[in-house]
Amino acid sequence: MNLLRFDSSAAWVGGVCALWTDRLRSNPRLKICLPTGLTPVPVYAEMVRRVRAGHASFAQASLFALDEFGGLDANEPGRTSHTLRRLLLGDVDLPPDAFHVLDADAPDVERTCQRYDAAIGDGFDLVLLGVGTNGHLGMNEPATPPDSPTRRVDLHESTIQASARYFPTLAERDLPRWGLTVGLKQILASREVWVLATGSAKAPIVRQAVGGPVTADVPASLLQAHANCSWFVDGEAGGNW
Ligand code: PGA
Repeated sequence: MNLLRFDSSAAWVGGVCALWTDRLRSNPRLKICLPTGLTPVPVYAEMVRRVRAGHASFAQASLFALDEFGGLDANEPGRTSHTLRRLLLGDVDLPPDAFHVLDADAPDVERTCQRYDAAIGDGFDLVLLGVGTNGHLGMNEPATPPDSPTRRVDLHESTIQASARYFPTLAERDLPRWGLTVGLKQILASREVWVLATGSAKAPIVRQAVGGPVTADVPASLLQAHANCSWFVDGEAGGNW
């Protein structure tokens, strides 16, 4: 596992985007899984800038959303699919049919998840992830088995409370309590995994996941066993350790 620590936010964004651009150049048909959350927001803005400037292209790539919140209004802007369109996909050259989303409104979400796994195939070329302060990856909460498929999950209370920042107009009682997530099986089967973490609140979990015991109780620690996983952290999330 590589720990890439950057001194400034600008260096962190530049580091992630330079490597992402490189991966798109060497494999234009890159199959990518993308998270939402606040952490990747500046990365997506920089990738939009690079596409507009002609330095990067998603024209032949395919993108899959990492997860989706359930039980929300179809127009709720905090839904993963809307967020990714707003931050990245609406402004890059990805063909619309190359963007795959988990449909949490489908009548049979189990079948939706099975189809998603079939469309992904055998892992992604590149997975970008955030990390929860409890170590979750996507919506794979602590105690998730490493071979878990894409599926419906109940969110932990801390994840529900943390999600309030994505849904500023929702009352606490209306925050999503479940979602659909790509499972750890597909994440761990991917050719390359990048975890993005910034800010001092993430320092304890980065330390635990990178240097602590490998345990399903901290899903992010399972990445220690991955052959090609890199953590991109800023000075605060990288902490003093
Ligand atoms: P954040 O979320 O990027 O908003 O911190 C990460 C996560 O909970 O997976």
